[in-house]
Amino acid sequence: MSKYSVAIAGATGAVGQEMLRMLVEREFPMKSIRALASKNSVGKKVSSGGIEAKVEELTKDSFKGVDVAFFSAGADRSIEFGPAAAESGAIVIDNSSAFRMEPDVPLVVPEVNAEAALDHRGIIANPNCSTIILVVPLAPFVRKVGVKRLVITTYQAVSGQGQQGIEELEKQIDPVREGKDVTPKKFTKTIAFNVIPQCDKFLPNLYTKEEMKLVNETRKILGNNSIRISATCVRVPVFRAHSESVNMELERKVTRDEALALLRGAAGVVVEDDPERSIYPTPLEVAGKFPVFVGRVREDISQENGIDFWCVGDQLLKGAALNAVQIAEYLHSKNAIKK
Ligand SMILES: NC(=O)c1ccc[n+]([C@@H]2O[C@H](COP(=O)([O-])OP(=O)(O)OC[C@H]3O[C@@H](n4cnc5c(N)ncnc54)[C@H](OP(=O)(O)O)[C@@H]3O)[C@@H](O)[C@H]2O)c1
Repeated sequence: MSKYSVAIAGATGAVGQEMLRMLVEREFPMKSIRALASKNSVGKKVSSGGIEAKVEELTKDSFKGVDVAFFSAGADRSIEFGPAAAESGAIVIDNSSAFRMEPDVPLVVPEVNAEAALDHRGIIANPNCSTIILVVPLAPFVRKVGVKRLVITTYQAVSGQGQQGIEELEKQIDPVREGKDVTPKKFTKTIAFNVIPQCDKFLPNLYTKEEMKLVNETRKILGNNSIRISATCVRVPVFRAHSESVNMELERKVTRDEALALLRGAAGVVVEDDPERSIYPTPLEVAGKFPVFVGRVREDISQENGIDFWCVGDQLLKGAALNAVQIAEYLHSKNAIKK
């Protein structure tokens, strides 16, 4: 069996560490692993399941002999170093927003459009975390019923902003509870005991970049530019796992039972839906798990052909590291990683 030389750019980060863990736990066939980060981290070690790598500085020369390069060091680093990695012969699986909307870069969620990964020119993009968590349960409705319009609200964990996001919430909990002032850094306002209706910067249309990623990336992955989408992305004081409330206008009437059947048949979805027993997914229960969990499925009382659902996924795993490793696994299964 082929074994690959693998590099992780951003190996010390929240996503990068999970990437290494996913590669090791899922037994991706590696013959070597190179951990890359900023020069501040040179000499540190990253490890998972007995596999250890010394961190090296990310440079354009980091990719000689590398077969698969996972990028998770922010869009600026992907723009600076991603093309060099691809030119060195590595397949780049990029977690940032740098290349997602480029027409010749496939944007891949393996449960939804795995084959798209085969048609690349050296770079494959991993979608935005909220987009991945949305499209996994959405795909069967788009493909088997037809979706006209979506209204989405996200409830996004602080680890969506990496290690610094996690630390900011941790550090604010005690002072805010004690009534002391805190100075927000990573978030625009105090995140402890609060919710912030802003993820990323505002655009001229007064949506945020995160909200427009959900709109544009969802259409690209599903190959359907006619779905109308409006999203509000909200940061919540949850450490890990994003939740989303999704309202769909469908092409025809779908009952709750039919919607549940569609969801139960969807790859990567687990339905947890029993209102009588208060069974529905929450981020605390979903953190650390692989699938997207769905509950609160119901017929929308405000329109003829509407269905509402609630979905939760671990955004560091399915929303980032796991999805990226699944892309590599798919390429391996198709013998599509150069040797
Ligand atoms: N967090 C999520 O839920 C999530 C989900 C999907 C996608 N993403 C994307 O994944 C990427 C990483 O996110 P994260 O949450 O893991 O962030 P993070 O915890 O802040 O980690 C950032 C990583 O990038 C490295 N880095 C920063 N500046 C660098 C430089 N100048 N040269 C080389 N390496 C540098 C850091 O290395 P040092 O430790 O040396 O600084 C660290 O390894 C981002 O593009 C983000 O948008 C994140």
